[in-house]
Amino acid sequence: MNVIAPVMRDIASLRADFPILSQTVRGKPLVFLDSAASAMKPRVVIDAMVTAMETQYANIHRGAHWMSERTTEAFEATRDSVARLMNARSRDEIVFTRNSTEAINLIAHSYGRGILKPGQAVVISEMEHHSNIVPWQMLRDAHGIELRVAAVTDAGELDFDSLAGHLADGKVGLVAITHMSNVLGTYTLAERIIALAHAHGAKVMLDGSQAIVHRRIDVQALDVDFYVWTGHKLYGPTGIGVLYGKAELLEAMPPWMGGGDMISSVSFERSTWARVPHKFEAGTPAILEGIGLNAAIGYVESIGYEAIAAHEAVLTEHALAKVSAVEGVSVIGRAQDRGGVISFTVAGAHAHDVATLLDRSGIAVRAGHHCAEPLMRRLGLDSTARASFGLYTTVAEIDVLAESLGRIRAFFA
Ligand code: ALA
Repeated sequence: MNVIAPVMRDIASLRADFPILSQTVRGKPLVFLDSAASAMKPRVVIDAMVTAMETQYANIHRGAHWMSERTTEAFEATRDSVARLMNARSRDEIVFTRNSTEAINLIAHSYGRGILKPGQAVVISEMEHHSNIVPWQMLRDAHGIELRVAAVTDAGELDFDSLAGHLADGKVGLVAITHMSNVLGTYTLAERIIALAHAHGAKVMLDGSQAIVHRRIDVQALDVDFYVWTGHKLYGPTGIGVLYGKAELLEAMPPWMGGGDMISSVSFERSTWARVPHKFEAGTPAILEGIGLNAAIGYVESIGYEAIAAHEAVLTEHALAKVSAVEGVSVIGRAQDRGGVISFTVAGAHAHDVATLLDRSGIAVRAGHHCAEPLMRRLGLDSTARASFGLYTTVAEIDVLAESLGRIRAFFA
């Protein structure tokens, strides 16, 4: 059964855009349910990168020659596309990084050490990925910033009483919280977080690594201060990520890494910085990856977020029903608003064994702590198996997962 939202293109033709999906694994069709870790790439992304390498490639921002100019235009066109995708006020609010992790580290170093003052606090939540925990611990230890952790409810939602409690004394300079949990699939209530933080004088950074894959992000409507995400989860290449920052914040922030491309002039006595966003982009950037990301954005826009979100809602509802119905299988978290990431445990079986057995049936899931050890401890677990969906995932694949889980549970019972 291939139930898809009516506005989505026919799923078979859509899947044909992704060459890798037609493979078999040990004689069985590949059922790829690990898109939250990294999504597969459509042909247009592959072609864009190959074409660039074959016909239009040179280093950018520095060459006086034709090839460099053309490549610079192609790379910088991606900045326009990202600004359009996120509804930024200006392309200058878009900084390219290697990934979300680097974007968060950039904020922690530059905003954290340059703007926040010792004695101020940063609030994160219990459901953060390690990449939104460790940079703030490093900031705490280096710069005397207090790190506060807002609680998560048993349902797997952000506890707003806890967040409000942490904000109450007015010492919080930044709230850094996920927009969608990579473990529970919970969408956090971004508007509410931002309104609450702003009312207490704190800026907000959202980690949109998962959310932007499934939902349209409008940074102006959200009034969010920083928003980070990574290209490889949005059907683009690895090695390129995005930091959106409000222009006035980026202007005020000192550079983080020094080197070529981020300077205006250099002498042995002192150097001056390029204007934003280049001030934050030291060294040769991920040129080909940037070009690939533009193709990925075009692809996502051609399908449309409304269709993607509707398709995901169908998949999520179906998966929650089918997976929970398997005796001995427990879905973790019951957030009101959740997307296509489902963690589960199988009674009597370790998550790694579940994943290994699923793999024998050609089903790819992730198992472990999902780079969120504190959340695992909060949930009283050491690991889960996790199925996550992309725009190419079918209801039939979820049925295959549920059937296999039934067999695995029977084996361990
Ligand atoms: N952050 C990625 C995940 O959740 C790698 O799998």
